[in-house]
Amino acid sequence: MFRLIHISDLHLGPLPPARVRELASKRIIGYVNWRRNRGRRLGEGVEAALLAAIAAERPDHIAVTGDLVNIALAAEYVAARTFLGLLGPEDKVSAVPGNHDAYVPGAARRARDAWAAYMTADAGEADGWPYVRRRGEVAIVGASSAVASGPFMATGSFSEEQAGRLSSALDALGRAGLCRVVLIHHPPVKGATAWHKRLSGASRFREVIARHGAELILHGHTHQPTRLAIAGPRGEVPVFGVPAATQRPGGSHPAAGFNLFDIERANDGFRIGHRLMQVTADAGAFVETRGEEMVIPAP
Ligand SMILES: [Fe+2]
Repeated sequence: MFRLIHISDLHLGPLPPARVRELASKRIIGYVNWRRNRGRRLGEGVEAALLAAIAAERPDHIAVTGDLVNIALAAEYVAARTFLGLLGPEDKVSAVPGNHDAYVPGAARRARDAWAAYMTADAGEADGWPYVRRRGEVAIVGASSAVASGPFMATGSFSEEQAGRLSSALDALGRAGLCRVVLIHHPPVKGATAWHKRLSGASRFREVIARHGAELILHGHTHQPTRLAIAGPRGEVPVFGVPAATQRPGGSHPAAGFNLFDIERANDGFRIGHRLMQVTADAGAFVETRGEEMVIPAP
């Protein structure tokens, strides 16, 4: 049995004091927005409970689907790197960047540099996006949808180049009979977000899955615990979203949560048990709020 935990959208705070020069451009809007809203809703108290709850589940691996920071200031990347270290060792934690990690031009590279140890392929696998990490019966395939976008936009992009590389990776991992778990920050499901938050190239992503298959797709971005699906070559592929990992209870978005998957090989494929764990009203613990058992046919 392989236990995989999925968290996303940490938006780690509090924000470091921003220098005026750094607040040029889109960051001004993000900074004001943080001061008004996010800073009050996303909290450090939840972070400690989250780390304790994850450790108590003794996961084999942790997937982090982006938006670790807010407005891409240098100090935020350092804080996020520390947080990744608190989650687990580099070979047991896999991250992909979100739009906030690529908030302004050049930021995506900064994310890649700061968190490289959590975003690099295994030795012998191809470099770049998506990266592939094989862990027992499971293959983590980390795609990037993170691009800088204009003011008031939170779009992502899935390029043709990545589509080609994802296709090859899924074929190779399918031939190896592994449970292929694809990570991407933006939801690749049609209509899953508002227009200004959409994934451009989502249909390209869905075409890759329809042709080459995957066993599980994990995303963030929406801060919602959704359970959707997209078509694969042998039936539907489950697609899971998750609440923001540090969301205080009682806000307009669902309280902080993480997805927990117990993956087991079954005769006809993989048996995957899912549990959604969410923080209690006093932010003291995480409890199961939803669950399901799935059987996914073998690749
Ligand atoms: Fe996002």
